Amino acid sequence: MSLVALCSAGASPGVTTTALALAAWWPRPALVVEADPSGGVLAARFGLEAAPGLLTLAAAARHGIGPEAVRDHAQTLGERLTVVVAPPGARRMAGALGAAASLVPALGALHGDVLVDAGRVDPAWALPALVGAASLVVVVARPRLDELRRLPDVLAALAEAGRPAALVLRGARPYPPRQVEEALGAVVAGVVPDSRAAGAFTGGGPGWGPGVPRFGYALQSLTSELAARVHPDATEHGGNGAAPTPRAARPAPSVEQEARW
Ligand SMILES: Nc1ncnc2c1ncn2[C@@H]1O[C@H](COP(=O)(O)OP(=O)(O)O)[C@@H](O)[C@H]1O
Ligand SMILES: [Mg+2]
Repeated sequence: MSLVALCSAGASPGVTTTALALAAWWPRPALVVEADPSGGVLAARFGLEAAPGLLTLAAAARHGIGPEAVRDHAQTLGERLTVVVAPPGARRMAGALGAAASLVPALGALHGDVLVDAGRVDPAWALPALVGAASLVVVVARPRLDELRRLPDVLAALAEAGRPAALVLRGARPYPPRQVEEALGAVVAGVVPDSRAAGAFTGGGPGWGPGVPRFGYALQSLTSELAARVHPDATEHGGNGAAPTPRAARPAPSVEQEARW
């Protein structure tokens, strides 16, 4: 239905982790496609098979592929996430991403949304095909100077390419969203808590602990905001349901609360 690309301006702020966490709370069925030009990590992190994945999908796409065949190249991660894993290393990724443009029609025709982990975007180069075709590009950054200073170039490149962008921060320290917005003149769409709860999405552990309900509230609110940008007229319900269902009566914590974790 819609292609949402996630990327960073560099420095590994948590693009891959955020892609999985967003997919877990996404209010519609969501397929995660690993497309980081530097190579995939999901198979290694989560003990998945190397294939099927982006290589088999790209090979199939060279001969033309419909949306119904895309899922043949996906694997199940955990109970409900569905991912297309990428090969490790930039050399094999270059081969797979060479066919990325031919994937766009099939991905766009899927019943659910596609969250593409596009890795680092280099504003000096043309946008990768899956970023250039996205309805929304989520730029992930930690709110610290070295990462914030790289953002204007990437946001400008996306604006020049006519791609709507949403800036998402990992954590709110040392600079909370309001300060980031003032400094960059760009709106912060939301915050993914910098929390051990993210461990569930890094392959580093169950990620279960005191921060988990708050992580869930923050992700639920963020995914609603982002999904509304790609489906402005939709009433959201249903979805991957991989995440624990937060109690509706309790609002998502404010950014100031998140910052105290
Ligand atoms: N929301 C988060 N909270 C805490 N740690 C995180 C979070 N997101 C990512 N990390 C940490 O950062 C590391 C790199 O994350 P990853 O998603 O692989 O970054 P990228 O895809 O940008 O290179 C992870 O292994 C994890 O330890
Ligand atoms: Mg990554």
